[in-house]
Amino acid sequence: MTGWVDQVFCEDALAGLARIPDGSVDLLLTDPPYNLGKDYGNGSDQQSVAAYLAWTEGWIDAALPKLKANGSLYIFLTWRFAPEIFVMLKKRMTMMNEIIWDRRVPSMGGSVRSFSSVHDTIGFFVNRKDYYFDLDAVRIPYDAATKKARSRSIFIGAKWLEVGYNPKDLWSVSRLHREHPERADHPTQKPLEIIERMIKASCPPGGVVLDPFMGSGTTAIAARALGRRFTGFELNPEYCAIIAARLAAPKPSPTIKQRKSIARAAKAVMRAVGATEEQA
Ligand SMILES: C[S@@+](CC[C@H](N)C(=O)[O-])C[C@H]1O[C@@H](n2cnc3c(N)ncnc32)[C@H](O)[C@@H]1O
Repeated sequence: MTGWVDQVFCEDALAGLARIPDGSVDLLLTDPPYNLGKDYGNGSDQQSVAAYLAWTEGWIDAALPKLKANGSLYIFLTWRFAPEIFVMLKKRMTMMNEIIWDRRVPSMGGSVRSFSSVHDTIGFFVNRKDYYFDLDAVRIPYDAATKKARSRSIFIGAKWLEVGYNPKDLWSVSRLHREHPERADHPTQKPLEIIERMIKASCPPGGVVLDPFMGSGTTAIAARALGRRFTGFELNPEYCAIIAARLAAPKPSPTIKQRKSIARAAKAVMRAVGATEEQA
């Protein structure tokens, strides 16, 4: 496997996808233009509705054959076009979830003739029943209070209590505001936390993640950090430069909070498999 993995190509996705072998990708994870009028320097987000939907169907048909038979797709969308695009995808794949990303936008005015939109819509689709899915990799540890409340003898040794719970389909993660330390100079950069959860759950270690619309390269950064391979495209040369810089930067060492959370999760897993804390 050479020539097209662990690289982001600065070119049109439709041209680049033609070079990727069919059936070679474990996870198609993408955040295409939403067609809300953003300026990505290429008009991709400023199309007529008919042109946008036709273009979307075109890249979907070019990208889906790249997936392995047990592969999956996550697609970020807006409520404005998710209905039409979900219908397109349901003709081609099986829909597993509609995930709502609550961007945790603070209350500060907004629409006066409708409710303020504070979420993105994410579709999770699979090719067939035996799709790859590693729930243990994305479980959320119960907090101390919940564990204490379940301390009666009937719960002792309960694996679910030790390993944590299955994330729900409402993901509440703050958007990357201008001052956020993760933020690059891209208008619609997605948080690593969300992308990492998708990769951990739906791409095996060493597997390949494809993102045809890389933006600032979040999918590539997350895949590499998690020991997966990546490939993808970005049309805007300025964003390609951001991707190159992010990939060249040394991986930031985990914060104290992250280290504590990793240690807690590791201990929970070790307890669940019957090991002592010293081993964890
Ligand atoms: C919503 S943004 C992706 C943001 C990304 N998820 C991140 O975290 O930075 C969509 C990107 O698709 C790019 N794009 C639009 N049309 C494209 C095309 N035909 N081929 C490749 N990239 C394209 C845009 O320039 C834009 O950066």
